[in-house]
Amino acid sequence: MSNSRILFAASEVYPFAKSGGLADVAYSLPRALNEAYNVDVIMPLYQFIDRVQFGIQASGETFNIMMGNKSYPVTLYICKYENITYRFIYTPLLCDREFLYGNPQGGYEDNDIRFALFNYAMLEIVKRDIYEIVHLNDWQTALLPLLLNNEPKIETKSLFTIHNLAYQGVFEKKALARLGIDEKYFHMDCLEFYGQVNFMKAGIAYADKITTVSPTYAKEILTPEFGCGLEGFLQYHSGKLTGIVNGIDTEQFSPSTDKMLVSPYTDLRGKAVNKRAFLKEIKLKDPKRPLVIFIGRFTWQKGLEIFIDALPDMALMECNIVVLGDGEAQYHDALKTLANKHDNIYLKSGYDEALSHRMYAASDFFLMPSLFEPCGLAQMIAMHYGSMPIVHSVGGLTDTVHDYAAFDAKSQKGYGVVFSQPDHHACLDAVKKALLLYSMKTQYNQIVKHNMLCDFSWRESGELYIKEYEKLKEESQRG
Ligand code: GLC
Repeated sequence: MSNSRILFAASEVYPFAKSGGLADVAYSLPRALNEAYNVDVIMPLYQFIDRVQFGIQASGETFNIMMGNKSYPVTLYICKYENITYRFIYTPLLCDREFLYGNPQGGYEDNDIRFALFNYAMLEIVKRDIYEIVHLNDWQTALLPLLLNNEPKIETKSLFTIHNLAYQGVFEKKALARLGIDEKYFHMDCLEFYGQVNFMKAGIAYADKITTVSPTYAKEILTPEFGCGLEGFLQYHSGKLTGIVNGIDTEQFSPSTDKMLVSPYTDLRGKAVNKRAFLKEIKLKDPKRPLVIFIGRFTWQKGLEIFIDALPDMALMECNIVVLGDGEAQYHDALKTLANKHDNIYLKSGYDEALSHRMYAASDFFLMPSLFEPCGLAQMIAMHYGSMPIVHSVGGLTDTVHDYAAFDAKSQKGYGVVFSQPDHHACLDAVKKALLLYSMKTQYNQIVKHNMLCDFSWRESGELYIKEYEKLKEESQRG
């Protein structure tokens, strides 16, 4: 073990706070790297986090942040959870909120101040404690490279990981003053973006290295179709950009030990027990029918339009369909109408970790028609649980799911049904193919069993992050 200290920062970390895949990665990646380095994870101590349950205690350090002529008090907290040290920043303006970023209608108006405080507090920490590298994630942590740029005496290097370029943290120009950021940074090579302040740009401009969560997404974000207006800027900085595919935590997601399942399993017979129990639980008929599921946020990104347009025809096919998720009201309402109309569609709205595990275990197919997908974790979990993914070939889905037509039993790749046009016709065709494959039991079973044995853990990708860290350490030694 190297004694290098890494500070891994994210605005959400499972199990403390989660709105999406970022929280899962912020939980599992530090665990995968903790053998090679000393990784501390840092996040805001939101008021809804149960301090007693996790044994979170004040570390005794307090300080004030002066930002835009105002002073903000900060208290640091700490806990050890499953062998990782978690550090927490508590300051009322950042933490005393009902939601992480805002309600479904929109973000909190002072998110610029809230997350700038997170970054300033981390700056104070790296001034006091020696961390060789800060590993930052998404726009909520993207100001720190700029703040470090302003402090030439601090030697800490930064790695910035983009999990989703569609969220950039863009605020009105007046934010500059209240965030105490010098006007000299307000230009197109830094955080200015069409007259506004863009946190993500600060990270891209000043981080020593940038990664994103799959090799395909790393290429896609250099194009106008996926670059969200930053393609040119990213092209300029592409020399320091790499794509590293996410892994899943195979301890957290393991069908053979999963305590959330009715009956943990290692083979398809055991899986069938879970399917029968689940169909009974939600009162869907006919366990012989293939079960197709969708789990995800009801947003444009996740291909909800394609899914909703495809559903009436899917409902007429010989299958059961179960949907779990939460999000925009228009999508939710449309799904609800369809679920009321067809007795082979079951909808559960909300976020329910245990139910999602039972669904992975029970299902035969996992539908993911995302319009864009930086990486996606659910398709890997699905394969690990013996549910075959049906995916639109984009971003991380391209890198992790290969079309069954090219199945090679000797490869280490996962297979599913892949479609390349982002529309409901292509999606329906893929579902038809999937159901046909299901009827060819030997072939279907062979692929699903193969998928269950593939390695979707952090083993390989962890090594790639280690390489990036080592390069940063070399750069810092060269000075
Ligand atoms: C974001 C992306 C998703 C990715 C996750 C973790 O939620 O939308 O594709 O898997 O971050 O990196």
